[in-house]
Amino acid sequence: MRPSHSPFKEYVRQLHHKKTVRAITTATIVVGLPVIGAYSCLLATRRLKLERLKITIANEHADLAGLKIIQLSDLHYGPTNRNNRYFNRAIDIVNALNPDLIVLTGDYYQWDPDYIHQLPAMLSRMRAPLGIFGCFGNHDYGSCYPGKIGNDPIDYRIVKHTFDKNNITILTNETIRLQYRGQGFNLTGLHDLWSGMFDPIEAFEGVNTHFPTIVLSHNPDTAGLVERGYDLMLSGHSHGGQVSWPLIGSLTTPMIKKHFRRGLHRISERKQIYVNRGLGHTFKMRFNSPPEISLIEIG
Ligand SMILES: [Fe+2]
Repeated sequence: MRPSHSPFKEYVRQLHHKKTVRAITTATIVVGLPVIGAYSCLLATRRLKLERLKITIANEHADLAGLKIIQLSDLHYGPTNRNNRYFNRAIDIVNALNPDLIVLTGDYYQWDPDYIHQLPAMLSRMRAPLGIFGCFGNHDYGSCYPGKIGNDPIDYRIVKHTFDKNNITILTNETIRLQYRGQGFNLTGLHDLWSGMFDPIEAFEGVNTHFPTIVLSHNPDTAGLVERGYDLMLSGHSHGGQVSWPLIGSLTTPMIKKHFRRGLHRISERKQIYVNRGLGHTFKMRFNSPPEISLIEIG
């Protein structure tokens, strides 16, 4: 008679255990990956999330407390991302929030100039008493690669003109002065870092140092490249990682300071940056990085 815990029984038990683990792993991959893939492509790209945050600007010259800023970024409107119903839903949400100021932080298009006139017309439906202002992202110069401006038909000058015609001002290395409840502040917009025209010295020429400064700069890597003082930089570019796997992280984040790929970060005692995850996408997929509308209240 065999003992109940014979080596043979233990061998069979381990064999069955390994088979069970293998079967569960295979089933998870076979069933799970298509489910995750379908979710990432069909749902996650449209699951808009409103991020409400309060940011303190410690400037002794002006108190902007209560100023409500909406930030939209990285719309990538084009052949792979032309869901007007989705963008109109975002615009309705923006208008329902009654912002004082709306800012756009670049990457409006995706390689195709046929969409250049449609997007500003749609965005011009947004309402804010201080207006709508923006900066360019790398995709708005006709290429997404450094130093390759003009390799495809999108021309940033035409883009700027079409936005202008719809009362949306794109700031290209320039500063304007705005007023909120009698308090002045600077709004500075920079050319994109990859455009070859990024010039913070030129952009800050119009800054009045007696007022707080909010900077629009598409690429978060610029936060450390602007030597002049600013209070808040608003950026995009990273899409929050776009596809951001738990434990592994983002597979493609085209920036050096990858920890700046989303959210609020302090650069120095005065300077801080907020990075919006974007509204669109560069390829039809998002995971663990929902598209974003930011509502920033200055505290
Ligand atoms: Fe982008």
